[in-house]
Amino acid sequence: MRRAIYPGSFDPVTYGHLDIIRRSACMFDELLVGVLNNSAKHSLFSAKERVEMLVKTTEEIGNVKIISFDGLLIDFMREQNISVVVRGLRAITDFEYELQISQSNRKVSGDTVDTIFLTTSVEYAYLSSSMVREYASYGTDVSAFVPDCVAEKLRRRFEN
Ligand code: PNS
Repeated sequence: MRRAIYPGSFDPVTYGHLDIIRRSACMFDELLVGVLNNSAKHSLFSAKERVEMLVKTTEEIGNVKIISFDGLLIDFMREQNISVVVRGLRAITDFEYELQISQSNRKVSGDTVDTIFLTTSVEYAYLSSSMVREYASYGTDVSAFVPDCVAEKLRRRFEN
């Protein structure tokens, strides 16, 4: 069975993430979406909330499983018996960071982990969770960037 993991913070999930999830789910028998639960990094939504939003927005894709993890990605992958990471590349600015992470994950895993990159669809190339959070914090409607249930959750999070 071909399995891969798409790891990230997903704080919150955007249409850009969903585009990568849909496209990579077609390439594997099972795609695990790994939600990083990093207590040292302040996130707007808890890992539980981020998982719930992902579960809801991917429910029509049969072979996707959402799970949160903490610690090192390669340790979690070993636990899950997965050796392929999927990441999205929006622009050249993402490339340097992603290259460094993928090469170090490969090295530290003893050359057992590979990363494949999907280029983000052009219509989502500018999109990021941090941008969505910032707009939402000023009360801007973000339904062009995220599914309605996520936009509603953001609206509630920032209402006074
Ligand atoms: O959506 P993000 O925040 O760009 O995702 C980054 C993520 C979660 C893929 C990356 O930070 C990660 O894998 N973190 C887990 C900890 C880890 O393995 N660190 C070693 C490489 S820096």
